[in-house]
Amino acid sequence: MKKNIVLIGFMGCGKTTAGKQLATELGYSFADTDQMIEHNAQKTISEIFAAHGEEYFRNLETETIKEMMKSMEHTVVSTGGGLPLREVNADILKENGFVVYLRVKGSTVEERLKGDTTRPLLQGDSVSEKIQNLLEYRDPIYEFGAHMVLDVDEKSVDEIVEDISRNFKLLCERNNEKNNRD
Ligand code: S3P
Repeated sequence: MKKNIVLIGFMGCGKTTAGKQLATELGYSFADTDQMIEHNAQKTISEIFAAHGEEYFRNLETETIKEMMKSMEHTVVSTGGGLPLREVNADILKENGFVVYLRVKGSTVEERLKGDTTRPLLQGDSVSEKIQNLLEYRDPIYEFGAHMVLDVDEKSVDEIVEDISRNFKLLCERNNEKNNRD
């Protein structure tokens, strides 16, 4: 098993905040697919959506994750909320790290992202419905793509980091024991 942790989940679930803290605590590097895409394109996600559309952005996500995962070790990766929806991306994530789904309720997302202008999929009217519809569709896909599911609504960042870290260390120990036996 490659020693990476991949955080997946809906917009506003806290992937980046938890990911950065987790990386610091484990002494790992931190990477963020959205930041990488923005850096490579020299445009914000909103500008990419506006200029080229969602499909173009989704292709960038696939290219980015393929490239990132080639040489990655000892890294915590935060992924864009829609990235694991493509099967090819979800497969790459699972092959290259311990994938954790940070599951969040629609009401929490709404609360956290009130007034946010950086997420093109949640602009305009009927934001609650948009969140609910997307969440309903995505939840089983996230769950299927993950090694571990964590309900984060009531948890502090410290608790989230602690839960992931404990499970990841256990998994690493088990893998080491298995390798020593083989
Ligand atoms: C998206 C989530 C965003 C970003 C883009 C699309 C999605 O990332 O990739 O706006 O489809 O859920 P965050 O999950 O970091 O907000």
